[in-house]
Amino acid sequence: STLLLLNGPNLGILGRREPEIYGTDTLADIEKAVAAEVSGAGWEVLSLQHDSEGDLVRDINRLHDSVGAIVNPGALMMAGWSLRDSLAAYPRPWIEVHLSNVWAREQFRHESVIAPLASGIVVGLGSLGYRLAARALLELVERNP
Ligand code: DQA
Repeated sequence: STLLLLNGPNLGILGRREPEIYGTDTLADIEKAVAAEVSGAGWEVLSLQHDSEGDLVRDINRLHDSVGAIVNPGALMMAGWSLRDSLAAYPRPWIEVHLSNVWAREQFRHESVIAPLASGIVVGLGSLGYRLAARALLELVERNP
């Protein structure tokens, strides 16, 4: 089974992107941590990061046979309507992750257009949030294969 790890704009530069907000782990560190979390279940991780919405949409639509997804939409959370529609058509459970606590930040980050469709959301726990999301997906899939 393949778990999708999807990251939107500006998340490819994690590690050096406003580290006081997003921490110092790189996306490669996060990929490794998520892979370690799910390897016991025999899952592989396919990590895809795109700065443009269309590339994310294309990947979500072509990877419908994956087991589930972890999605950090970055700033597409605010107005990523085509991302939202592709996730609406994604047939498997997925979890939204934000490294920072978006509700402790600017007003424009307080609403996510994809959140109403997520199985669950993890915010404000930094890179740990991705690992927690991976564990949650393992449990969700175990309960509802
Ligand atoms: C983010 C929060 C978003 O508001 C922001 O645009 C990002 C990162 C996070 O992980 O905390 O790019 O999704």
